[in-house]
Amino acid sequence: MNENRQYETFFELASSMRAMRRLKPDPVPPSVLNKILEAGVQAPSGQNTQPWSFLVLQQPDSKAWFAERYKAAIESRFTGMMSMSTEKDTALTRQIKAMQYQVNHMQEFPVILIVCGLRDWPFKVAEADRIGLAPPNFGAVYPCVQNILLACRSLNLGAALTTMHQVFEEALCEHFAIPDEYGVVVTIPIGYPMGKFGPIRRKPAANKTHYETWGRH
Ligand SMILES: Cc1cc2nc3c(=O)[nH]c(=O)nc-3n(C[C@H](O)[C@H](O)[C@H](O)COP(=O)(O)O)c2cc1C
Repeated sequence: MNENRQYETFFELASSMRAMRRLKPDPVPPSVLNKILEAGVQAPSGQNTQPWSFLVLQQPDSKAWFAERYKAAIESRFTGMMSMSTEKDTALTRQIKAMQYQVNHMQEFPVILIVCGLRDWPFKVAEADRIGLAPPNFGAVYPCVQNILLACRSLNLGAALTTMHQVFEEALCEHFAIPDEYGVVVTIPIGYPMGKFGPIRRKPAANKTHYETWGRH
């Protein structure tokens, strides 16, 4: 393959990978889902510990259980935002409408992927301060999550990284028998998108980069 073309394709995908919250109920073939998960596990991790595990929800009753709690969590934490007028067409109202759709149709999406991470105390937490369960190793799991999102994009599947499960994580782990040694890092509804990918709005790297001394752009 022409190397330049390969890079171009990556940049095109990365710059059009929006959070896709409106998904069709059409099933995702098992071979496609497997490809996405295989992309996830190619990610690097400290000492190659590969501390991720996936829980795939596809059955109607599993998705309905999750969707009901997800909706309640959004409504409890984003009351103002979710009931805001969305008459005007702005970036915020478009996002709110998409979130409303996601919340009201979650159970119809073909796959809800729950990405878990092994619990592991960060180095900076002293032994004496290690009380209760350690948090999941977020840093080690996020590269895997990003690979999953990029794989979805490259297969023309929509996905949105979500973290509202934190509000009901204990019940989630109990209901789906997730063992104590794992915590839930993200939940990702996946399906064929109703809308189009990209373009995304991001500030240029130059605005976010400092050279040698902070403040020197
Ligand atoms: C750590 C993290 C948490 C997020 N949590 C949620 C979430 O709970 N629900 C959701 O719909 N999107 C969530 N997102 C997606 C962001 O809202 C989205 O990427 C951002 O608004 C930019 O929009 P875009 O990706 O469509 O350009 C999350 C993204 C990240 C990285």
